[in-house]
Amino acid sequence: MDRIAITGGARLNGTIPVSGAKNSAIKLMAASLLTDEPLRLTNMPRLADTRFLGKLLTRLGVQVTESDGPDGQQTLLHAPEIMSGFAPYDLVRQMRASFNVLGPLVARSGQAKVSLPGGCTIGARPVDLHLQALEALGAKIDLHEGYVYAQAPRGLKGAEITFPIVSVGATEHAMLAAVLADGVTVIHNAACEPELADLQDCLNAMGAKVEGAGTPTITITGVARLKGATHAVIPDRIEMGTYAVAAAMAGGEVRLTNARPGLIDALLDKLKEAGAGVEPTADGVIIRRNGQRLDSVDVETAPFPGFATDLQAQFMALMTTAKGESRIRETIFENRFMHAPELMRLGADISVSGGEARVRGVEQLEGAEVMATDLRASVSLVIAGLVARGETTVSRIYHLDRGFERLEEKLGACGAQVRRIKGDGEAEL
Ligand code: EPZ
Repeated sequence: MDRIAITGGARLNGTIPVSGAKNSAIKLMAASLLTDEPLRLTNMPRLADTRFLGKLLTRLGVQVTESDGPDGQQTLLHAPEIMSGFAPYDLVRQMRASFNVLGPLVARSGQAKVSLPGGCTIGARPVDLHLQALEALGAKIDLHEGYVYAQAPRGLKGAEITFPIVSVGATEHAMLAAVLADGVTVIHNAACEPELADLQDCLNAMGAKVEGAGTPTITITGVARLKGATHAVIPDRIEMGTYAVAAAMAGGEVRLTNARPGLIDALLDKLKEAGAGVEPTADGVIIRRNGQRLDSVDVETAPFPGFATDLQAQFMALMTTAKGESRIRETIFENRFMHAPELMRLGADISVSGGEARVRGVEQLEGAEVMATDLRASVSLVIAGLVARGETTVSRIYHLDRGFERLEEKLGACGAQVRRIKGDGEAEL
């Protein structure tokens, strides 16, 4: 299995272009199931997760073609007809977001059989809210042997959906199903993450009538059919935030381009509070730190526009070498501190109790062998490795490949000493 080796100590200086957002791209790809015309997505990240979903969509009847066009990396998705409404356990288990094909399949062809995703290393992550939303839209839902059987032979019907808690995935799923429902759907207590507005823009370009995404109330007036469209995926705010933290950790000056800093204000405010330089630019942000040690600051994760749970692990890595004690509260997922014991292998001083971690900054981390447990946890270990004395080796990096495009190349271009070691021991850049 491949590993990443980082030799700590190099400052980062240079420019990092931010890729299209993974968590938007995979929902936009699912939207291709809703029309028999081609959907062209530009600014597409090339990631294990997008390739993986491409495979599932192909099985369902979508022709998926990746190419490099005048607008950069793009993917053309065309589903003239749905060949199968079946998403097997193996495919959904490996990538939970595959579950989001259920709604579009029922909306377009009246039935689907999709595996329940099962648990996950960061929490139980049930899908009850997804199913409640589809039932509210009139789908008949049955659960047998780990599968969801959904049927709506006469089509879905607009409905009022009130989520008891904010869920990004369930809001997106309800939106993806309701665009072809008969009548008006109103989603209350909707997630406000920027990926929702991106999905709305794409669906509207396809002829849907969606309003309010980005606010807690989304109104969808169903239409009889959708058409093809071209849509550019929004920049990845989590990738942008990750490299912002990496720059603050390693020191130096990094310019992030093709980015929207307004999407990570909560993180940038914390970086400023800790003492890093943050300078917004026309297409991104410059992050700098000139040698001085950062101050500890506390963070608590929250739905957008709060501090993103997907940046919590990276920020914890940053705090391991800050002055004083930082308290980090995780409020979205119940088990999202798996990186803490790995950071401790690098010499970090962290104690975890329930949903709170206390990080007491140390002067110096030491390189060690560590193991990635999920996507954001693995990149937090790379960030820590940037300043650890000697070499840090991160294994199980297939997690990283799911969500960070050309990570070694992007960090390496700024002077980081990061290299991939192939499973057989041969180094590859
Ligand atoms: C999305 O997951 C992201 N994934 C996650 O990023 C991100 O951490 C999360 O939103 C929060 O921002 C994708 O977009 C593919 P939720 P999602 O539904 O939609 C509970 C990454 O690293 N819940 O907003 O699954 C759930 O257990 C990933 O890129 C229910 O109880 O998150 C959690 O505690 C990790 N029932 C909370 O809601 C449900 O039916 C919020 O989860 C659904 C969710």
